[in-house]
Amino acid sequence: MERIKIGLIGFGRMGEKYLSQLRASGKWEVAYICDVSPGAQAYAREICPGTCITGDEDVVFNDPEVRVVGLFTLADSRYRQIRKAVEKGKHILAEKPIADTLEHEKELVDLVESSSLLSAVNLYLRNSWYHNCIKDFISSGEIGDLAIIRICHMTPGLAPGEGHEFEGPSFHDCGMHYVDLARWYAGSDFRTWHAQGMRMWSYKDPWWLQCHGTFENGVVFDITQGFVYGQLAKDQTHNSYVDIIGTKGIARMTHDFRTAVVGLHGVNVTERIEKPHGGKNIDRLCDIFADSLASGVRSDALPAFRNSMEASMYAWKFLEDAKSHDLPAIGSEKELEAIRFRRSRMKDGYGLLHKR
Ligand SMILES: NC(=O)c1ccc[n+]([C@@H]2O[C@H](COP(=O)([O-])OP(=O)(O)OC[C@H]3O[C@@H](n4cnc5c(N)ncnc54)[C@H](O)[C@@H]3O)[C@@H](O)[C@H]2O)c1
Repeated sequence: MERIKIGLIGFGRMGEKYLSQLRASGKWEVAYICDVSPGAQAYAREICPGTCITGDEDVVFNDPEVRVVGLFTLADSRYRQIRKAVEKGKHILAEKPIADTLEHEKELVDLVESSSLLSAVNLYLRNSWYHNCIKDFISSGEIGDLAIIRICHMTPGLAPGEGHEFEGPSFHDCGMHYVDLARWYAGSDFRTWHAQGMRMWSYKDPWWLQCHGTFENGVVFDITQGFVYGQLAKDQTHNSYVDIIGTKGIARMTHDFRTAVVGLHGVNVTERIEKPHGGKNIDRLCDIFADSLASGVRSDALPAFRNSMEASMYAWKFLEDAKSHDLPAIGSEKELEAIRFRRSRMKDGYGLLHKR
């Protein structure tokens, strides 16, 4: 199979992850790496000597041999870049959120859905082995009727003011994955919700949020997300799980970012499955994308722009709801400064952005 020429735009933390997966796959040829930062360009030249490195995205868009663009900058440039990609007839592999405002996201969904180009967004949990394993277990009837979806993801991750400012507060930036996941499990749309936030370190926006409510099909959910989990602890840790409760059995998952453990407790089957976590599953996303391009048939496993827009929309709704209730502030700007200072010197930590 002829390798697919792709140009990567945005070579930060995620851009580099894509590069390594695309290079490891035999299906892709990375023709360009584009980043506006001279530091990122220098780094790209060092690790990717055969590839054309540029700061001008039009060089990538104007090359007729580039079939796919990978859009991995921050959300503020994605609206313009996606429109340009469609205009130039490029297939699109994008990071989430697909734009920096909901109006732009909706416009882009209409744009890609009315074009014949292939597009996908990295809602990576949809491609994880552990969530697919649990979903299959639910479908098999082992837990009876699905009733309660409980999701929690708390890490000492990106602190307020550290980066990703166009992606919104942590419940939007990261939390939209879990909003999407809850909908994916429920197979239904949100009906009611109530959200409680905490303005940790007295930051203007909540950096921890819990939302619970119902789906149209009667399933109930709670989602807890925050980058507030022991930021100044000597030894950092996190707490991430899903807990799926049916009328007869349960299925659950937890991970330490290296290994994921699924526990299945059904009416006939009890099983504990432990396998490598799989990170952001970018290898799988790129693989499915390449196969869809080759066959001309879009795989159902490819997360769509519409999925991302809807997850983003509900994440914003839940944040708005939290702001309409009592929204306490605890902690000080001094603590936040200490956190940013610590993270700026960490070599290995949760969600560290690349400093080049
Ligand atoms: N799917 C996921 O799980 C996941 C995880 C982390 C980040 N993300 C998303 O990926 C995106 C990138 O995040 P990151 O952590 O890599 O950020 P980052 O800050 O490390 O990287 C962004 C890069 O884009 C470059 N850039 C900015 N504007 C540009 C432009 N107009 N043209 C070319 N380059 C430009 C910057 O110089 C930087 O190198 C974000 O939108 C974020 O929401 C997704």
